[in-house]
Amino acid sequence: MNVYDSARMADVLAPVGYEATEDPDAADLVILNTCHIREKAAEKVYSELGRLRSKSADLAAKNRPAPMVAVAGCVAQAEGAEILRRAPNVDFVVGPQSYHSLPDLVARAAPRFETATRRRLSDIIETDFPAESKFDHLPPTVAQGPSAFLTVQEGCDKFCAFCVVPYTRGAEYSRSVDDVISEARILVERGAREITLLGQNVNAYHGIPSGDGKEGLAGLIRSMADIDGLKRIRYTTSHPTDMSAALISAHAEVPALMPYLHLPVQSGSDQVLSRMNRRHSSADYLAVVDGLRRAKPDIALSSDFIVGHPGETEEAFEQTLALIREVGFAQAYSFKYSPRPGTPAADADDQISKSDKSERLERLQELLNEQQMSFNQRSVGAVLPVLFDRPGKQPHQIAGRSPHMQAVHLDCADGAEADSLFGTISDVKIVSAHANSLKARLVAAEPMLSAQAFREPANA
Ligand code: 5AD
Ligand code: SF4
Repeated sequence: MNVYDSARMADVLAPVGYEATEDPDAADLVILNTCHIREKAAEKVYSELGRLRSKSADLAAKNRPAPMVAVAGCVAQAEGAEILRRAPNVDFVVGPQSYHSLPDLVARAAPRFETATRRRLSDIIETDFPAESKFDHLPPTVAQGPSAFLTVQEGCDKFCAFCVVPYTRGAEYSRSVDDVISEARILVERGAREITLLGQNVNAYHGIPSGDGKEGLAGLIRSMADIDGLKRIRYTTSHPTDMSAALISAHAEVPALMPYLHLPVQSGSDQVLSRMNRRHSSADYLAVVDGLRRAKPDIALSSDFIVGHPGETEEAFEQTLALIREVGFAQAYSFKYSPRPGTPAADADDQISKSDKSERLERLQELLNEQQMSFNQRSVGAVLPVLFDRPGKQPHQIAGRSPHMQAVHLDCADGAEADSLFGTISDVKIVSAHANSLKARLVAAEPMLSAQAFREPANA
């Protein structure tokens, strides 16, 4: 979601003369778009601000202007004035619901920015949850490339005991179906073949209260599938209790809906799930998985796991390992529990020791890595349609995603061939599997076949 938000920040700043740069040293304005989900992510912001501060000092020594610095996102929302106190080089702070105000904030910070001392006249902090949605104030989206993100829902009312999201992103909110479809059409006109619908709790999507989007996310996905030129639809992140029958059926019935789902379970222990306030048991989760697999037998699943949540015993942890063995995940993200200020779990008196968390995370990741590797190995020899959406790391290499979200790399004969594949969905044969990616060769794209015929003897 932060990637999408950053793209929208660039959209909102374009009319006042800013464009995104890949070169941080060339920037006039640096916006750190931040994440507060775990302590490590939040602390990174301060180390990055320290780095920017010494860079600005170097520039000042050379009589060159330093960039304006802003902190956006959930750390901005959660810490507000504290950021200005800890990092005096920050010019302004803007929360995730207010980035439509960026041009105004830049204008307000400019006088300070232009003075030699850069003394702060008044603190510029925009962290309200405005009654009107920021989406009503954003300009049309710009191109994001063949695979685009589109936020349809934000915020969360679930209040899992460990999680800051309901506090930093606010209450659950859905954009209207019309609004989403018109943004999707623009993305497709500008080259998107795949759209990933985003929300902290995306499957709680309900359109606007007047009945628009009555069928929830399933209805939205069906409307999206009617958009000409849109070949692939994904959505993330979902909560198990919001996996409605209609949404599960959409996996069977909408061909553009990709056979991959990120469905966090967090733990396999009912006692821990209850302490987490997840509102579902491990059996509920397994029932959803079963329904999804009946609807779409080749669906690949991914999940988030937290180890060492307060109250997690060794036995409870082993129940998580058992659930993983039962489901079999294609991919997963796993974390040590990180106490977050203001959340109920942070105050619990049965915290788990650092060493137990590390040991459990290692065991969990060993199992998940094995599952991911074996999932990837099962793809070897298969022919898969891959959407090529970015250059590979090697010269003349192109990279994309399989329907199951695996990263796929393909070595091309030359740069021209790589360019011709960009943005296409091409059939490739998987030739080898690695922990985090697959290697492939092309099987059926016109340009490649004719080039090959030219290079190889006809009877080869
Ligand atoms: N500690 C560790 N992991 C967390 N997550 C959310 N809050 C915490 C926390 N306090 C993880 C959850 C969630 C993912 C986005 O981040 O697994 O699904
Ligand atoms: Fe956080 Fe997701 Fe729980 Fe909401 S449902 S509180 S975003 S973990």
